[in-house]
Formats: sequence, C-alpha cells, structure tokens
Amino acid sequence: MNAMNEAISKIGIVPVIKLSNPERDAVPLAKALCAGGVPVAEITFRAAGADRAIRLIREAVPDMIVGAGTVTAKEQIDAALAAGGQFLVTPGFDGELVAYAQEKGLPIYPGCTTPTDYHAALKFGLEVLKFFPAEQSGGLAKIKAMSAPFPQFKVMPTGGVSLKNLAEYAASPVVAACGGSYMVTAELIEGQRWEEITELCKRSRAIVEEARRG
Ligand code: 3PG
Repeated sequence: MNAMNEAISKIGIVPVIKLSNPERDAVPLAKALCAGGVPVAEITFRAAGADRAIRLIREAVPDMIVGAGTVTAKEQIDAALAAGGQFLVTPGFDGELVAYAQEKGLPIYPGCTTPTDYHAALKFGLEVLKFFPAEQSGGLAKIKAMSAPFPQFKVMPTGGVSLKNLAEYAASPVVAACGGSYMVTAELIEGQRWEEITELCKRSRAIVEEARRG
C-alpha cells in the first residue's frame, strides 16, 4: 500500500466531519481526535468553508492527516490542495475527478459499491476504495462478495458504521479503515463536547485493535 493508505489503515478510523463553524471548532475538534488516538479527519464539503477548516487544522496540528470529503467538483480539489489537504474522498465514482486528483498527486478514495464501480477503479490503479453507503449497500457481506473478483482492493466502509458494528467491519482483512460520523455528530460538535469525542475515539481505537487481533 502507498504511504497514505498505510497511515490511514494503521489508525483504522476516519471521522467524517461537517463543520458549520470552522473558526470556532476545527482546531479543538482536531485536538480532541488526536487525544483519542485518531489523528485523521475527513472534512466534508457538505458545509461551506471546508477548505478553511482544513487549513486551520493543518496549521495548528501539523501531525494530523487531513483530507476533504464529499468532493464532487474539480474546484473543490483545487481548494483542498491549496488549503493543505492530504487526501480526497468522493461519494461516488467519477473518473474525471480521480484522474484530476492523481494529476495533482493527491490520494483519492472514490465511493464504490458495485462491480461496475470496481471495474472503473481498476483502470486508475487505486488500492483503497470508499465503500459507501456501507450498511445500506449490503455491509460486510457485500464487501466480501466484491472482494472475490476484485481481491486487489481494500475498502473504507462508511455510512451506518457505529460502535455496534465497528468490530465486525474492522476484523475483515478487506477493510483498510472504517469511516463514520458517530464520534463527531453535529450535537457533539455544536455542544463543543471535546472530551466525549476523545472518549469515543479511544473506544473506537480499542475496538479496532481488538478486532484485528482476532
Ligand atoms: C459519509 O459521507 O461518509 C457518511 O455520511 C458518513 O456516514 P455516517 O454519518 O452514517 O457515519
């Protein structure tokens, strides 16, 4: 695996974050994630100012891995890159965006759940795909079924992942890391409940480690 895939896979969890007030929340949130052993953040373009949040975190917490999520346009790739973003996540598979990200040297994790998506991903030499929306698309059973014809891919299941099913996903050798918003919900962020976020991250890390040990 390439270096970014290795780093994300080592952490095993990718918080999917929507920030409505980056100036107030981005840096304390990033520190809360790091304190919980999860030094990675996917900041989604679902809220305006995602690139501002990426920049703020990269400046204040340089050891953290920060990427952009819900990327659907080239302009967002440019904005993420200019802000210091280190990876990209798209909800679906868009070959143009994948090619553009690769041209710019940014790792990209496109959302893929079907044999057609995986076929398309093959052409770009990708190693890790976002499997989205994971639970709604068939969960681990579908991930396993897809890995039979496409053993070269590992996945990042996202969508419906929670403390309840994290162990099941994390135990699978096909899963590089699990994405989710359960540890960074709007309520937790709006309420600036940083300690709870840290606790949720610690529990998630412990679940992943234990699941991987088998
Ligand atoms: C995403 O964009 O990756 C998902 O919305 C995260 O899904 P979740 O909120 O169910 O964790």
